[in-house]
Amino acid sequence: MAGKKIIFVTGSSGLIGSEVCLFFHEQGFAVHGLDNNQRAAFFGPQGDTRWNQARLARLIPGFVHHELDVRDRPGILALVREIRPDLVVHTAAQPSHDRAAAIPFDDFDTNAVGTLNLLEAARQACPESPFVHMSTNKVYGDAPNFIDMKELPTRWDYNDPAFADGIPETFSIDQSKHSLFGASKAAADIEVQEYGRYFGMPTCCLRGGCLTGPNHAGVELHGFLSYLVKCNLEGREYRIFGYKGKQVRDNIHSLDVACFIQEFSQAPRVGEVYNLGGGKDNSCSILEAFELTEKFTGQAQKSVYLEENRSGDHICYYSDLRKMRAHYPQWDITKSLDETIGEIVASWRERQRS
Ligand SMILES: NC(=O)c1ccc[n+]([C@@H]2O[C@H](COP(=O)([O-])OP(=O)(O)OC[C@H]3O[C@@H](n4cnc5c(N)ncnc54)[C@H](O)[C@@H]3O)[C@@H](O)[C@H]2O)c1
Repeated sequence: MAGKKIIFVTGSSGLIGSEVCLFFHEQGFAVHGLDNNQRAAFFGPQGDTRWNQARLARLIPGFVHHELDVRDRPGILALVREIRPDLVVHTAAQPSHDRAAAIPFDDFDTNAVGTLNLLEAARQACPESPFVHMSTNKVYGDAPNFIDMKELPTRWDYNDPAFADGIPETFSIDQSKHSLFGASKAAADIEVQEYGRYFGMPTCCLRGGCLTGPNHAGVELHGFLSYLVKCNLEGREYRIFGYKGKQVRDNIHSLDVACFIQEFSQAPRVGEVYNLGGGKDNSCSILEAFELTEKFTGQAQKSVYLEENRSGDHICYYSDLRKMRAHYPQWDITKSLDETIGEIVASWRERQRS
């Protein structure tokens, strides 16, 4: 292992964490992952990520797994001091909008305090190493809902030409309803920016739209496409919460997320913020996602419609990718929505067989 660069990935058994571990292993990095399967504590057995941890151990020779909670401050400070990583990618989180209200302390301690623990650990041990934080579009709260909208046959869309390319990073994060999750992630987002601006560390926040891919343990409360496909394959009813099922999300494959992290790590900037999603081309409404999934599975999607929308939920959200493309012109979306759904279908079939 001597001479290899070291990457430290928190939330390594999750969707993004596992993709990043594999991607950087293939780039020649020594990989240290941290995960305590907290997703199973947040969401029950359906959220269990041990299978993904085992997959990493199988696929990455020398993979080092650290069974540690990001809330364990002395543990995190000591571990980062010991590893002194060349790159930190922080993906561990309580990731659900709706779940947060039931577990406000766990949510804030994980998302906000856990991020601070890692930032300070990195500042003490490896302040020159790029630090990439997975933030969320929920930092904008429900403010995108105040944009003038038009209703199309299967989706909502922005009616205001100022947002024809989607939501830019300059959009206000202030004075809107975030959910407790959006608030704890906004606190983390600001801390990550501050460790860049105040201490000069090469940090960045990636404000995700819907991040997806074949290795998500999708549950009703988190992992929209993964969960939707799972329902289709199991013949289970998918519950639509309001907005006529026309609410729009932009979906990005986890591999395209990992590729962007590589671009940033090779030419890092200080205290940056990017809106990271599939953009308008890879956006779909729930109704459109049903149709796309049915095309792959041949099975009609069962669903039930509930009038009440999720509190603070976006009616239409897609990311403006122009800043990412301008700063890192080598990067672009490589996986279409169709291809991504095809992979998710194949992966659930495989997991159901084993
Ligand atoms: N998936 C999405 O649609 C989406 C959208 C926007 C932002 N994000 C953000 O991207 C990041 C990664 O999302 P994901 O979909 O890969 O999530 P995920 O739930 O699949 O992975 C997160 C992993 O972190 C682990 N974890 C959680 N709390 C922990 C703790 N206290 N200590 C140690 N490990 C812990 C979990 O066990 C899980 O394996 C999160 O920060 C999330 O908020 C995700």
